[in-house]
Amino acid sequence: MDTITDLGRYSRAIQCLAIAPARYVPDLVEDARAGLLERPRSLPPKYFYDARGADLFNRICETPEYYPTRTEDALLQEHSDDIIAMTRPGYLIELGSGSSKKTANLFDACEKQDLSCVYAPFDICKPVLIEAADKLQDTYKWLDVRPLLGDYHAGLGNMPHYRGCKTFLFLGGTIGNFTPPEARSFICDIRNCMDPGDFLLLGADRIKDPAVLNAAYNDAQGITALFNLNVLRVLNRELDADFSTDSFVHSAVYNNELNRIEMYLISRCSQEITLGKLGMSIRVESGEKILTELSYKFYFDELETLLEECGLKVVRHFEPDNRYFSLVLAQRE
Ligand code: AVJ
Repeated sequence: MDTITDLGRYSRAIQCLAIAPARYVPDLVEDARAGLLERPRSLPPKYFYDARGADLFNRICETPEYYPTRTEDALLQEHSDDIIAMTRPGYLIELGSGSSKKTANLFDACEKQDLSCVYAPFDICKPVLIEAADKLQDTYKWLDVRPLLGDYHAGLGNMPHYRGCKTFLFLGGTIGNFTPPEARSFICDIRNCMDPGDFLLLGADRIKDPAVLNAAYNDAQGITALFNLNVLRVLNRELDADFSTDSFVHSAVYNNELNRIEMYLISRCSQEITLGKLGMSIRVESGEKILTELSYKFYFDELETLLEECGLKVVRHFEPDNRYFSLVLAQRE
């Protein structure tokens, strides 16, 4: 593991620790080969998050239709004092931390309870990670911010072993991006990084009126469409491809049987696309879909079962009056 220094826009230069994958991870060339040549075509959602994609995601969170972020933020605002009093963390480790904005509620609670701790945000998007870390360090002088850079899923096994009380955070509903078996194996991987007594705080989106779900992924300003189409720009840059973002349309539909949003890019015409780094081109027919993201929604009980099947005991389960979102606190016994 090597250390990377970056001078951000803030006074301090925060060091971040690069975490190497603990197992084999396919790169974009391999993922594109596997996903784009198969039918139905698909791409893993992690490629959305280059600097522009991360920025578009933050803008999605501000649209009136996208309720998860503000719902989770309100839950954290209301329950952070409780969560910190129960968990008394020496280490807060956040997987897929992004801008770390909602997490500030937990730091405010630590401050009130005179608890100083280490915050280890773990994210794949370096500029976002550094900016968030510098900003937090500036605001919370007592907080020991130690960013981890890398693929948090593959990197779990290579994280520093923190000795002391740990609380893992996996927020935002990102657990929904995994298929059910993947979600189970990911939670088990987290559990294996936990010592007895450690906690996991999981944020997950709930099953609700499909109209609300469809609106959340089809905002009127079209930010989600830009976010979805951004993956084509990533492919153009990283794979030396020639996708035209004008010849695909964004589509997101709630699948009632499988309890998930399915996000696609649909080809407007029959077209040939060159994938330079793959040394080949593909023909995409008019109306053909590329699956870019699944976002599963959960029942209240289903979340508790998921955690308990991985050997974690649910100690608190928070939800708002409208039951739009869950925050579940679970402990390894
Ligand atoms: C960040 C993965 C939780 O699935 O709702 C937002 C990403 N995609 N709008 C989600 C997303 C389209 C988001 N997660």
